[in-house]
Amino acid sequence: RGCKLVGCGSAVPKLQISNDDLSKIVETSDEWISTRTGIRNRRILSGEESLVGLAAEAARKALQMANVDPDDVDLILMCTSTPEDLFGSAPQVQRALGCSRSPLSYDITAACSGFMLGLVSAACHVRGGGFQNVLVIGADALSRFVDWTDRGTCILFGDAAAAVVVQACDSEEDGVFSFDLHSDGEGARHLSASLRHDETDAAIGSNDAVTGFPPRRPSYAHINMNGKEVFRFAVRSVPQSIEAALKKAGLNGSNIDWLLLHQANQRIIDAVATRLEIPSERVLSNLANYGNTSAASIPLALDEAIQSGKVKPGHIIATSGFGAGLTWGSSIIRW
Ligand code: ACO
Repeated sequence: RGCKLVGCGSAVPKLQISNDDLSKIVETSDEWISTRTGIRNRRILSGEESLVGLAAEAARKALQMANVDPDDVDLILMCTSTPEDLFGSAPQVQRALGCSRSPLSYDITAACSGFMLGLVSAACHVRGGGFQNVLVIGADALSRFVDWTDRGTCILFGDAAAAVVVQACDSEEDGVFSFDLHSDGEGARHLSASLRHDETDAAIGSNDAVTGFPPRRPSYAHINMNGKEVFRFAVRSVPQSIEAALKKAGLNGSNIDWLLLHQANQRIIDAVATRLEIPSERVLSNLANYGNTSAASIPLALDEAIQSGKVKPGHIIATSGFGAGLTWGSSIIRW
């Protein structure tokens, strides 16, 4: 039993924030941001918009392209590190889509690698669990966790949602060739948004100072990042991971039509492409318009490339996600 990608869709918030807009709130410039990162604009959730709403819109478009009715979805994987409910957002997306057969739906938390892990999970569920149509949604709103006074991080992120439909098929039609997945908790200190127990800042409620009971409710700290370490980690680990995934698929760099990396920084994308000797004409990038949208970035760039006709049916794509955890992983897929 094989599985293949049969639809994709995306949704972004209305509010667009340019580098010049950011230079009004922190000491930075369009020139600094665009030369160091390649980012020019990003979208930020505002007003009545919600992450669940964006995710449902992206999922609806993907289902429409796949010609799959919401009632025929039997699994929804919501890859997000910024759920609107600590207990998970996937069932809310399921409700918004009106899937009446109560399909299984759950969240996957793996930051910028979330979509990659969702794709792997979908393939495993289809191949081993008898599932037919799986929605894999990457959706994040890191703008809610950014310190908007920290110019080192607030310039990088944007909000978005994007989805693909993974469908069961005969093994000769298989469109998910291989995976290579890793994590390294040692590196967690380089990129985090951890629970903070600071008594002055975060404590809500009260407890007995002596026994510590009942527990105080902590809050989450802003995103904390060592940019240089994350940069080094990405440039070192991602090419190795893609090479491993290519090898497992019995392919090499010359067999792939497109390189599609998590959209974190254009300099990371260029460095990985150079290491893999993949020319820039075969590299997908849209982070100039959206910044780093975490779990949404890979399906968002894929959707745009499909809509614009760059990625055509039958094209082979080497894709890789990497980020907090630290986590990273690659897959070779066919559209
Ligand atoms: N505008 C102007 N100056 C800035 C800004 C800014 N927005 N941010 C930092 N600077 C300054 C610093 O204060 C520093 O000044 P100093 O030399 O006087 O101390 C100088 O610019 C250099 O700062 P660095 O942090 O060393 O800049 P660097 O070249 O490392 O670029 C960046 C920073 C863009 C964050 C880079 O390290 C990077 O892209 N790292 C990858 C991290 C990443 O992509 N994270 C995303 C999340 S994780 C993921 O998705 C993989």
